[in-house]
Amino acid sequence: MFGLSAVFCKMPCKIAFATHRNNLGAFASYACWNSDSYLLLATTPPFHERFTLMATVYVTRKSHFNAAHRLHNPAQSDAWNQAMYGKCNNPNWHGHNYTLEVTVAGTPDPETGFVVDLSKLKRVIEERVVDKMDHKNLNLEVDFLEGVIPSTENLAIAIWHQLHDVIPAGRLHSIRLFETERNIAEYRGE
Ligand code: NI
Repeated sequence: MFGLSAVFCKMPCKIAFATHRNNLGAFASYACWNSDSYLLLATTPPFHERFTLMATVYVTRKSHFNAAHRLHNPAQSDAWNQAMYGKCNNPNWHGHNYTLEVTVAGTPDPETGFVVDLSKLKRVIEERVVDKMDHKNLNLEVDFLEGVIPSTENLAIAIWHQLHDVIPAGRLHSIRLFETERNIAEYRGE
């Protein structure tokens, strides 16, 4: 952090240590001074230069929506679907209270301290995902799910593709979709 060991002062003097604050955070300096001179030996760079220039931080926005669906593969027989999906194959649908976690990765902006403005991220998630899925039938009413078997896994992939190119800052790291508290699918674009 300090370049102190590389700097030598030949005069008999005191070493002074001081901490300062500016709008980018705290930093510190070492200085050497005697009665009539003052020599700055080393200064720590401000916080964003010390810690955040290369830092990757993961920021998550959580949303909720409720939706109906049916797990059914039309390429298979009714008996196959019944055996595979059980109650989730009910022809008259069933519903879930979904929780969606959208995680964005990036480096905090030195001016704002933000990886991504969460109010902007919230708006994008609402427009591209929640408004299209909330209180809808996922088999029948969602344009980006046409022809998709709406398993939690497939929904996570479809939501990724709704969001990955409209993230306001940073990059989309993961989509975590909770169908229940215990059943969760995560997709990272791989
Ligand atoms: Ni279900």
